[in-house]
Amino acid sequence: MSRYIINGGKTLNGKVKISGAKNSALKIMAASILGSGKVTLENVPDIEDVNTMVQVLQTLNAAVEFDREKNILEIDPCAIDVCEAPYELVRRMRASVLVAGPLLSRFGRVKVAVPGGCNIGARQIDLHLKGFEALGALNSIEHGYVISSVDKNTGGDGQRLSGATINLDFPSRGATENLMMAAVLAKGDTIINNAARETEITDLAGFLVSMGADIYGAGTDCIKIRGKKELAGTKYRIMPDSIEAGTFITAAALCGGSIEIADAIWKNLEIFCLKIKEAGIDISSASDNTIKVKKTAKKLKPVYISTLPYPGFPTDLQPVIAVLLSVIPGISIITENVFENRFMYVEELNRMGANIKIDGHHAVINGVEKLSGAPVKAFDLRAGAAMVLAGLVADGTTEVYDIYHIKRGYEKFEKKLASLGADINLVNDEYKHV
Ligand code: EPZ
Repeated sequence: MSRYIINGGKTLNGKVKISGAKNSALKIMAASILGSGKVTLENVPDIEDVNTMVQVLQTLNAAVEFDREKNILEIDPCAIDVCEAPYELVRRMRASVLVAGPLLSRFGRVKVAVPGGCNIGARQIDLHLKGFEALGALNSIEHGYVISSVDKNTGGDGQRLSGATINLDFPSRGATENLMMAAVLAKGDTIINNAARETEITDLAGFLVSMGADIYGAGTDCIKIRGKKELAGTKYRIMPDSIEAGTFITAAALCGGSIEIADAIWKNLEIFCLKIKEAGIDISSASDNTIKVKKTAKKLKPVYISTLPYPGFPTDLQPVIAVLLSVIPGISIITENVFENRFMYVEELNRMGANIKIDGHHAVINGVEKLSGAPVKAFDLRAGAAMVLAGLVADGTTEVYDIYHIKRGYEKFEKKLASLGADINLVNDEYKHV
């Protein structure tokens, strides 16, 4: 079992480069199922979730090769003849359900393990299934699996889905992505209203268009898709990871110094960057997609934050910015509107000396002068990153346990932080109870 040991209080300086976006790469890997030729993806992050999606694709009998040094992934979907995402993989990574849309679209049937809840909320897939139904599929749940297949009576010709108008109750990212991928090979036109607008959705649409799909309006709340009979293989570069960028911006705000973050796109992270600015941090962007954070002599100020689907404040950066707010004097308030259980990290942060109280879906943060190092655990990916940041700014030594969560989504996290001057070491040893 591995853990990080961090000796806090070091000033961070220098330049760091952001990797490809996890939440774009995983969907685009799933979308490669739709093509009738080889797909080459550049800027794919070497992280555990990508490894899991590689296994999902291999389970379907796709041929996959990952050059981890060059971050290039090749997927040949031609031999796919299995239409099932097994429990073992879905349990490990919920995003495995994103193969449902492409498999249903290409083969007219799919069987996927129902993911169940996780450490941040219930996270149902009802909106995905309602959308499949609108496109002409029949869904049933049997023995923990959802089975979807084209209904020959209401569906399209043979095994094809039929285009439809889908009105999402909530702009779910996963549902928008699964339904976009289902619709691109359906017969006729599909409209997705109240669609999610995240930049990763625009990236997925860009990839599908490069395969020959007809998609309009990705990045707005109304996406229109004209179904095609076939899509081709393609070459595509994954966009940079905004959440990783936000994590390094926060590390810089806590411990800089002067830091340049390359491949960090301000407009994809605007609300977050503006909140960082509102707190009094010196943050600016250059035209070459570099964000600079510099030490400021100004007194930092508390801020109020409400998480919302894009372009709102990203829920994935909520635990991360909480660390910064926990050391800014005054009262800051975070309201979590996307997930019902995303404050699990607060007790760990309080063990490091933070003063945060939870009231329903609000966290009331009374900024303290300093945090003090302690053994803590990572509850999930972003909570884990938050614990590392807390360790960087705390007095003394912090040990972060259960860091397999962090490995799921941050490429070379400790190496990148160490290159900026952090004292962080990865230790592999037997599990120690905290
Ligand atoms: C994506 O999850 C991301 N994951 C999450 O990032 C991110 O936190 C989340 O979007 C919100 O931005 C990936 O892209 C792999 P949703 P997703 O469907 O698609 C409810 C990270 O740390 N809902 O937009 O699962 C759901 O329960 C991860 O990188 C339904 O009720 O998010 C949640 O409350 C964690 N029914 C809300 O909508 C459904 O059918 C948002 O979920 C679908 C969703």
